[in-house]
Amino acid sequence: MCGIIGYVGKEKKAQKVLINGLEKLKRRGYDSAGIAIIVDDKVKITKASGKINNLVNILEKDEASLGIGHTRWATHGDPSEINSHPHKQGKITIVHNGIIENYIELKEELITKGYKFNSETDTEIAAALLDKLYNETNDMNKTLVEFQKQVEGAYALGIIVDDDYETLYTIKNNSALIIGINNDENYIASEMTAFNEYTNRCIILNDGEFAKITTNNIQCFDKDGYEIEKDIMTFEKNVDDNNKGIYEHFMLKEIYQQPDIFKKLTDFYIDMNDNFDLLSEKMPDFSKYNKIVIAACGSAMHAGLIGKSLIEKYAKIPVEVEIASEFRYKDTQFIDDKSLVIAISQSGETADTLEAVKIAKQHNSDTLGIINVPNSNIALNVDNVLYTEAGTENAVATTKAYLAQISLLALITLSIMNNNNNITNEEKKEILTAFRELPEQMEILLNETYRAQYKEIAKSIYEQDRVFYIGRGIDNYLGMEGSLKLKEIAIINSQAYAAGELKHGTIALIDQGTPVIAIVNNERTIKKTLSNVKETFSKGANVYLITNEKLKNSNKDYYTIEIPHTIELLQSILTIIPLQLIAYETAFLKGTDIDQPKNLAKTVTVE
Ligand code: G6P
Repeated sequence: MCGIIGYVGKEKKAQKVLINGLEKLKRRGYDSAGIAIIVDDKVKITKASGKINNLVNILEKDEASLGIGHTRWATHGDPSEINSHPHKQGKITIVHNGIIENYIELKEELITKGYKFNSETDTEIAAALLDKLYNETNDMNKTLVEFQKQVEGAYALGIIVDDDYETLYTIKNNSALIIGINNDENYIASEMTAFNEYTNRCIILNDGEFAKITTNNIQCFDKDGYEIEKDIMTFEKNVDDNNKGIYEHFMLKEIYQQPDIFKKLTDFYIDMNDNFDLLSEKMPDFSKYNKIVIAACGSAMHAGLIGKSLIEKYAKIPVEVEIASEFRYKDTQFIDDKSLVIAISQSGETADTLEAVKIAKQHNSDTLGIINVPNSNIALNVDNVLYTEAGTENAVATTKAYLAQISLLALITLSIMNNNNNITNEEKKEILTAFRELPEQMEILLNETYRAQYKEIAKSIYEQDRVFYIGRGIDNYLGMEGSLKLKEIAIINSQAYAAGELKHGTIALIDQGTPVIAIVNNERTIKKTLSNVKETFSKGANVYLITNEKLKNSNKDYYTIEIPHTIELLQSILTIIPLQLIAYETAFLKGTDIDQPKNLAKTVTVE
């Protein structure tokens, strides 16, 4: 949701940097965009609803050395041009990410002071409040200190003041904001991706801090306005992540990156010749916890469910998985200093997951983040972080980050098992072999023969109005993720059910030809699940079975995809690939917007 980019410098044309940055930020989710630049000693604002191209088409050829830009995801008011950012009130022009919660009270007060508002946004109120405070003091430092006292909610702001067109101000609270540093130029952005092709040096502001930025100077201040020293951090530049390469969609590219991502993670944590010593060294110590709570949203929550199954079965620690938006409002969270709260998040910015971390800390629980975006809000707030190292994920529907999450959860499980001395030498050998072979098995699932099978299934479901996924245990959790992918990108109503639960009501929805995708990988429950599958078949369902080669299903009534077999700890990493690609091929046939599905934002910074 909402992305901010700002530039001040002699090296580049501000307008170009802003548009380029907005292009990178658009995957967060947006429905309008705008920029403000300084031209002929005036603020020039251009904005447009819809795609960034609509904005580009109306831009004039202006040269500027300072500007701010914004992709807006409508929360207060429709995605019209008027509601788009930047907003100007008096001497202040701003772009904003977040939500000002007390904007109605502030608005009423500002109206009494003579301010008039054109838009329905909370952002315009923030601009007016800044203008009012600035007029009272003529001092931006005092203005920003006072602003924080009066405003409730989440905000990251990029600010231009009419009296000084060589300075960019920025302030943040509960929304991400990063300052990029280069020679004779500086940047601000919601995330590094927006400027990472120009520089790999940055300053990360904490909540309550603000900064005054010129071409070759950055001053940072704490919430009381005292100047503070901030560390300059460097990060890896990854320009390659910003283009689709040979793939038609980012989502497809990201699915194909998965074997490498798994291998990279494994190589980091496991020395293939040893006794998991490297793993113990690099993983936190889990021995002091008698309970784990995983808080996450969407796909990350689905990953958490797989983590729960693995940790409970193999590492013998009870695990609860909570939807972060539910966890934060529960009257009682049964957690204490012997509990570990794991926050899983691709973006590291999901507002509800961040809040879950803060609540965990209030209960004295330790917190661990499983995060993809380096130095993101959640990563900075947890006690400990394990990065999924999947690289920038551009498609809104997550694939590679989810796969990296379930891989890390398998590694965590293994680490606890190992520390508990729960693995025999024989098992160690089997596990190491499985890890070694997995990338190749993943590649098999990406080859043309398998692709042809996913396309076959896609052909028979893309015109359907509903699809069911069923399975038991981990297979059910994978079904939930497969079903979410189908909903997200193919916009088909789809539901995932525990196989044994379907008959308790939902089976009424199975008609002649209703697609049922059954995931059957567990030797212990195969018979039971297949009998549930048969029930749906006898009610007329078209059954598509995803099972592994070891289970040798020979039923010709079902269209069967037989995937490679591996140990249970890793089987989900294989099984998810067909599910991702069935959703992809279905969306492709339907002709939907695969990388930017309707109504969805990749980074959900509001509750
Ligand atoms: C959004 C995305 C989902 C994602 C969820 C959690 O809804 O569209 O794909 O799973 O947020 O995001 P996170 O960044 O916390 O993993």
